[in-house]
Amino acid sequence: MNDTDTCPAPHWRPGLEEEYAALTDRLESMLPCLEIPLHLPWIDAIQQLKRQRGAVIMAHSYQSPEIFHGVADITGDSLALAQAAADCDSDLIVLCGVHFMAESAKLLAPQKRVLIPDREAGCSLATSINAADVRGLRERHPGVPVVSYVNTSAEVKAESDACCTSANAVQVVEAMGAEKVIFLPDRYLGQWVATQTQVELVLWNGTCEVHETFTASQARHTREQFNAKLVAHPECAPDVLAEADFVGSTTAMGHWLERERPERVAMITECSMADNLRNRFPQIEFIKPCNLCPHMKRITLPKIYACLRDLRHEVSIAPAVAARARASLERMLAIGRHETI
Ligand code: 13P
Ligand code: SF4
Repeated sequence: MNDTDTCPAPHWRPGLEEEYAALTDRLESMLPCLEIPLHLPWIDAIQQLKRQRGAVIMAHSYQSPEIFHGVADITGDSLALAQAAADCDSDLIVLCGVHFMAESAKLLAPQKRVLIPDREAGCSLATSINAADVRGLRERHPGVPVVSYVNTSAEVKAESDACCTSANAVQVVEAMGAEKVIFLPDRYLGQWVATQTQVELVLWNGTCEVHETFTASQARHTREQFNAKLVAHPECAPDVLAEADFVGSTTAMGHWLERERPERVAMITECSMADNLRNRFPQIEFIKPCNLCPHMKRITLPKIYACLRDLRHEVSIAPAVAARARASLERMLAIGRHETI
């Protein structure tokens, strides 16, 4: 079923502009002015439906500003959202992010109903490896523990000893207490982790289709042309990371900006990160090399509305897989928790 076909746009109602004046002001620094009046009726309809349903909307930092600022109750990186799902009061969660994030939320909040507005919102890292691949790695490296990035399916998490995010990867690898660890599936994140630890890593050949497209010459050009500091996500290639003033996870980038307060910064990561941080740091000028994640951008206001209206696209995970996948996530949480941004 096509979500938008079955969802006529809500009408503009009198008073909308005044009611959402503060939001409009905020969005004007991130979106073309002409777009905002098109978003407001959807934002208003979603807010009403959300109240009726008693739902909580969670949005990843790569979601577009009209979602991140317009309808989300909780925002953050992938793990922060999963933790918030476990901690929130509502029994109904709409996860605006990609599928592995909604699965993580469901794993950590198994009694709650978790909906994703578009179940085709995938991730090139999550599809780069399956459970049989992990079993194959274990056969080739007997006794070596497996740490998998949260950007994986529940089936892959179930075959792993622990999960990690880019924020706690080094910590989790070292907590395995082994000389060698299988680290999957992102080879660039793995190569970066290997520079931060003595533990030998066996890597898989997955990449993020968004971060792998940045180049070192593009990074150098951005720094020279704009006289900007460079902040890069560790899913970028090593020669790109070598150009950066700071390498860190989605959450760590925010902390670095808070500490350093540069005059101008280029965000070598998904495009919406700059928009969503700009509101937190109005005095910093953000340069955004605009690489969009096509999976994140499948989530739109009309799809969020349709998902809440019809309670569609509920995430479910086979119980035998869920129990083992949850154990991997919980092992990570026991090693290092996160905060929302
Ligand atoms: P976070 O775990 O930092 O939210 O990142 C997820 C992601 O998809 C990075 O590309
Ligand atoms: Fe996956 Fe990359 Fe998109 Fe993140 S940005 S969801 S790693 S494809």
